[in-house]
Amino acid sequence: MQLLLTPFTIFKLIILLALQLQAIPVLSNSPCKTFCGNIPINYPFGLDDGCGAPQFRHMLNCSTDLFFQTPSGAYKVQSIDYDKNHMIIYDPSMSTCSILQPHHDFLMTEIQSAIIPPSQDTVFALLNCSIDSPVLNHYKYLCFDFSGHSCDELYGSCNAFRVFHLLTNSSPPCCFTGYNTVKFMSMNILDCTHYTTVFDTYNLKGVSPLDWVYGIKLSFSVPDTGCDSCRKSGGTCGFDTETEGLLCLCSSSVNSTRECAAGSVIAKGLKSYPWTIHQLVLLLGVFLLIMMRLL
Ligand SMILES: *[C@@H]1O[C@H](CO)[C@@H](O)[C@H](O)[C@H]1NC(C)=O
Ligand SMILES: *[C@@H]1O[C@H](CO)[C@@H](O)[C@H](O)[C@H]1NC(C)=O
Ligand SMILES: *[C@@H]1O[C@H](CO)[C@@H](O)[C@H](O)[C@H]1NC(C)=O
Repeated sequence: MQLLLTPFTIFKLIILLALQLQAIPVLSNSPCKTFCGNIPINYPFGLDDGCGAPQFRHMLNCSTDLFFQTPSGAYKVQSIDYDKNHMIIYDPSMSTCSILQPHHDFLMTEIQSAIIPPSQDTVFALLNCSIDSPVLNHYKYLCFDFSGHSCDELYGSCNAFRVFHLLTNSSPPCCFTGYNTVKFMSMNILDCTHYTTVFDTYNLKGVSPLDWVYGIKLSFSVPDTGCDSCRKSGGTCGFDTETEGLLCLCSSSVNSTRECAAGSVIAKGLKSYPWTIHQLVLLLGVFLLIMMRLL
């Protein structure tokens, strides 16, 4: 017993205890979820309300997978590229080369259209249009040449689209266009029964529709709100859920308007976190040892 009570042992125990306590605030530092499955969630996005930029509020949802929510549905997010500011989404009820599905619109809110619209290299192919369709008449100029591809090529090489010319024995018109067309005209107004979308379209000359990548690439802009200084100080950018005023989230118990004050992360983070049994036992041990030494 005498051996255990050397000052050196006590010293070691105190160091051990100090290390334990230091580790806690680091763990509770981020009040925001940083992953949904294997997709990282960083600024400007957020999953918990109050995380990320207020403009992007309520856009993502991590239920079973990561979903991007728009007025026309919940679209599965396949990836987010924070260097290029791209998000790839896939509409499971969209028609592609291999599957034909009932038509529906792709709608975004005004804010979404402004800050996270489909990219320039995302092409919307409007299929099986009636000859009265505005894009074949007054708004003909909205259709562009898509690397020399034609409707016949789509109807011919895709199993899903073959039905369009099988029934009529001719090729119903189609139109390759950009997001702005479907933004301002619903599929009913466009008078086309189906659409499909393809992204990364800059190098598709001579590539068969079977090899295109179907889905939508969204191009987001990151609000310039001084998030960097918050991040550098160890915080996570967020906002007040009532006023939507910007906040630098320093720990689960400290919010600051700009950046986290030096030391606040550790000092305040500690208070909010219940001590584990492990640490209490250690503390009790040290206390007892000191008492026994003194007696
Ligand atoms: C800090 O901000 C977050 C997000 O708005 C909020 O949930 C939390 O309650 C705030 N904490 C404090 C201590 O104000
Ligand atoms: C979350 O995404 C799912 C997609 O499966 C959707 O059904 C649900 O309505 C979404 N919830 C919210 C709160 O947006
Ligand atoms: C193609 O469009 C015509 C109307 O223009 C419609 O009657 C027909 O059902 C459509 N084809 C398919 C496969 O939906």
